Amino acid sequence: MSVPFDYRSAFSRNIGWVTETEQEILKSKRIAIAGTGGVGGSHVLTLIRMGIGRFNISDFDTFELANFNRQAGASMSHVGCAKVEVLAEMALDINPELDIRQFPEGVGENNLDDFLDSADLYLDGLDFFAVEARRALFAACAAKGIPAVTAAPLGMGVALLIFLPGKMTFEQYFRLEGQTEDEQLLRFLLGLSPAMLQMSYLVDDTRVDLDAHKGPSTPMACDLCAGLAATHVLKILLGRGRVPAAPKGLHFDGYRNKLVTTWRPWGNNNPIQRLGLKIARRKLSAKLTGPSPEPVQPTTPIERIIDLARWAPSGDNTQPWRFELVDEAMFLVHAWDTRDQCVYDLDGRASQTAVGAMLETISIAASGEGLEVEFTRRPDVPETNPVFEVRFYPVPELKPSHLIPYIRTRVTQRRPFTPTPLTSKQMAELNAAVGSGYRVVWISDRNRKWQMAKLLFQSANIRLTIPEAYEVHRRVIQWDARFSEDRIPDQAVGLDFVTLKIMRWAMHSWKRVHMLNRYFAGTLIPRVQLDLVPAMRCAAHFVIVSETELDDMDDYLEGGGALQRFWLTATALGLQFQPEMTPLIFSRYASESMEFTSDNDAITAAQKIAVELEGIIGDAKLERAVFMGRVGVGTMPLSRSIRMPFVERTADRR
Ligand SMILES: Cc1cc2nc3c(=O)[nH]c(=O)nc-3n(C[C@H](O)[C@H](O)[C@H](O)COP(=O)(O)O)c2cc1C
Repeated sequence: MSVPFDYRSAFSRNIGWVTETEQEILKSKRIAIAGTGGVGGSHVLTLIRMGIGRFNISDFDTFELANFNRQAGASMSHVGCAKVEVLAEMALDINPELDIRQFPEGVGENNLDDFLDSADLYLDGLDFFAVEARRALFAACAAKGIPAVTAAPLGMGVALLIFLPGKMTFEQYFRLEGQTEDEQLLRFLLGLSPAMLQMSYLVDDTRVDLDAHKGPSTPMACDLCAGLAATHVLKILLGRGRVPAAPKGLHFDGYRNKLVTTWRPWGNNNPIQRLGLKIARRKLSAKLTGPSPEPVQPTTPIERIIDLARWAPSGDNTQPWRFELVDEAMFLVHAWDTRDQCVYDLDGRASQTAVGAMLETISIAASGEGLEVEFTRRPDVPETNPVFEVRFYPVPELKPSHLIPYIRTRVTQRRPFTPTPLTSKQMAELNAAVGSGYRVVWISDRNRKWQMAKLLFQSANIRLTIPEAYEVHRRVIQWDARFSEDRIPDQAVGLDFVTLKIMRWAMHSWKRVHMLNRYFAGTLIPRVQLDLVPAMRCAAHFVIVSETELDDMDDYLEGGGALQRFWLTATALGLQFQPEMTPLIFSRYASESMEFTSDNDAITAAQKIAVELEGIIGDAKLERAVFMGRVGVGTMPLSRSIRMPFVERTADRR
């Protein structure tokens, strides 16, 4: 059915918030918008629906996949198309009577006058990094007496600055003249948002890449920008009262639910701004380590399987495996254990469990490609460095495992959960996940959880006082890090800021650790934070137990498979998870009389732990325990171990 366009009907629902006369005024206005990407595209569409009748829009860019998260015109049918043309087409589809002038070459010195010709207002939709064009546009607006508005998408919020004729100009506020590009970007950012509300929830600052002119963005911020900017555009165009002009600014953050009105007389020359800039400069220079390499995307089914297998868990994130591609139906896994370097892996069992979890991940990932897997462990290589041949067979009717989506999101959470108990459905699914040949012993009532807490507290004393463990911790913690490719970032360890600082200081030398432990009860706070409190703040502790004896490496590899199915199922159920392996490891060392430390007190403590752990798990045999930990309802960790790049994992071998 074709309905003829009628301006009054199309925008009649604005009436009430604006009068009919005001709507006619809006229809007659011309807005210049430079940039029709994330913010600019939303500006165009919002203002058209507000009934603005005339536009000058510019953009030299075309749409690409990386624009999809936020840009109004970015969609599969528009990849490769000129942004300005797409937005004009979308605009005319809403209001066919629009007078819309397009500038597909972008805006520069040579067409500024043309672009701003008869504009009633300029609205900034330029890329954050387009400093030169922005400066030129705002200067031209000031010279021509055109109000200019910028609404910057920051995190999940918006910072608004308005430059009105006769008031403080863009240059007077930002003070960019004569500065380097990095300094101009810094001044622009801090000027836009003196409150910097967004910084507290930037979870991955490595994604801010000034050199490559890239940064993270959200669609919500673009929509908030369009909403806040259009409101002020309306007020300016209709003379509806005061708007906060520079040096005043508005910052609304939807994530933090905060609105701040900022006021910075002299703009970036304000003493508070100068101090802020000084701090920001220091942070930036510490961060500038050169551009991070683009991740290599896997393309073939086998590459995709390996890419997922990388995400299997391993003790201290050691990832004791390398992949060697042989052909399209086979690859090799070169694995190893860390018995010569790690006190928690003296019999190689921890590494074997991790390798088993990784092989299980290969099977799960392969099901998504319609492939079944056959593993063959080469007989002629030592147990410390096993090699697996991994062959794939297409099975057309094979169903993809429901666990595939959780391979990358499975994570270790070392901070306290809530004590909310597991539902019977969750427990049943977890019991089933380990598969035949295994069962799960649950420790969920308050009394037994307290026994477990005390046991972990004792075990932690061994962990934090033996020199053999000190060497491991020194090696596996990456300091000042939220993410770590080959270790555990300090922020994921589970300690508060101050204790972490003390620990970092102490771990400089064994002498310091020893002194702190001996004279200042140095293990007490870490043991409370890392063991005692988390042990009570969880739904339950679990022990995965094998129905048969654990005799050799193959038994631990299989146990690792059960662990991975269990952990992925917990992730699928939305539960948090932390392995608690040290009591089990020290118990085994004690019962098998393995010499794991030179500290005799620690050996005695380990013997005690073995007896107590046996008491807690009841009739299950301790020597058949494969893995233990805790699960529960909690928040996802903001800091985590990540993995070595796909390419590195496949290229070199240990
Ligand atoms: C065999 C094994 C033993 C582990 N032991 C512990 C442990 O005792 N305590 C702990 O917090 N994490 C433990 N982890 C978790 C690893 O540190 C974690 O999987 C690794 O750092 C990768 O991090 P992610 O699980 O967050 O991806 C263990 C993992 C495996 C596979």
